[in-house]
Amino acid sequence: MMLTKLARKILESVTPYIPGKPIEEVQRELGLPTVIKLASNENPLGPSPKAVEAIRNALPSLHRYPDGSSFYLVRKLAAHLGVAPEQLIIGNGSDEIITLAVRAFVEPGEEIVIAHPTFLIYKIAGQLAEARVRTVPLKDFRYDLAAMRKAVTPKTKMVFIANPDNPTGSYVTKAEVEAFLESLSPEVIVFFDEAYAELADVPDYPDTRPLLGKRPVIIARTFSKAYGLAGLRVGYGMAPKELVEAMNRVREPFNVNSLAQVAAAAALEDTQHLEATRRLLREEKKKLNGALKEMGFSCVPSATNFILFHAGPKAGELAQALLKKGIIVRHLQAWDLPEFLRVTVGLAVENDAFIQNLKQLRRESS
Ligand SMILES: Cc1ncc(COP(=O)(O)O)c(C=O)c1O
Repeated sequence: MMLTKLARKILESVTPYIPGKPIEEVQRELGLPTVIKLASNENPLGPSPKAVEAIRNALPSLHRYPDGSSFYLVRKLAAHLGVAPEQLIIGNGSDEIITLAVRAFVEPGEEIVIAHPTFLIYKIAGQLAEARVRTVPLKDFRYDLAAMRKAVTPKTKMVFIANPDNPTGSYVTKAEVEAFLESLSPEVIVFFDEAYAELADVPDYPDTRPLLGKRPVIIARTFSKAYGLAGLRVGYGMAPKELVEAMNRVREPFNVNSLAQVAAAAALEDTQHLEATRRLLREEKKKLNGALKEMGFSCVPSATNFILFHAGPKAGELAQALLKKGIIVRHLQAWDLPEFLRVTVGLAVENDAFIQNLKQLRRESS
């Protein structure tokens, strides 16, 4: 689509982010009564019941503006995470923490270093800031931190590390992160995107919080995944106080709505919901991995709630065929992985439906 001449020149080079198809859209377009969405790495158990109740209780106050400082949520999170309230910033999803960080710190012409492929928002945010985006290929579907370290130049302002990564589901270890940081200039901000941290079920997953007192880092997390609140849009960043202050200067005064604030605070206390989420993920991921391997697909080992697998040259057609059967998965064309599909671990019945339909489509095509 041609952009209006009135738009900033830079917008011509920005590839719009294409989100997973919403359930309602697929129902409408294909006339299907039930649709299973395994495309956006959401929590299949739904939101924490405690969060839903907190929202209900907050509804009569919707005529008031939200607390612009998210005072209560910040304090709850600080206690939960063992960081100072001054080291926290709340965002409209963790996506917003990414854009706030780039807006606050990256000057036009400076460089950001990202992996390729990885979460698409880093590149978009960098392009909008008129930064030079240096991309470093993955190695065996994992971040190649040694190569990313080499890509850092005196012009580099920020390096993004998604851990676990999306769309691969792979992760970088504590030792790899330590080696990466060893001689990195304190002028370079390292952005750890830990959207899936609570779901990372691997022993050597790094705890990056001790870095807050040592060097410029930003650690972003979210309530969208493990806590099941993707629709509310609430995430947060941990960073040294001076970095938080800078990001607050570019933040909209009321960026996080009042329902999101109370729901996030309540969800944080709902350990039962989080445990149930982790349990389901453990069991169902094993089942999905097993079934995909049995069908002959090779899967990237996943540290989180989705699986990337090689579906072959007809991956796009396969995704379309699944869609016609009411199952939404992600075809990774936009990530330059046209032969790959990404499936989110859903409820047992949803995963079973995915497996059965995939088996049937494989039989029909052979
Ligand atoms: C790696 C990664 N970071 C950040 C996000 C953004 O999540 P949200 O803005 O919902 O917090 C996602 C969402 O899919 C993600 O996969």
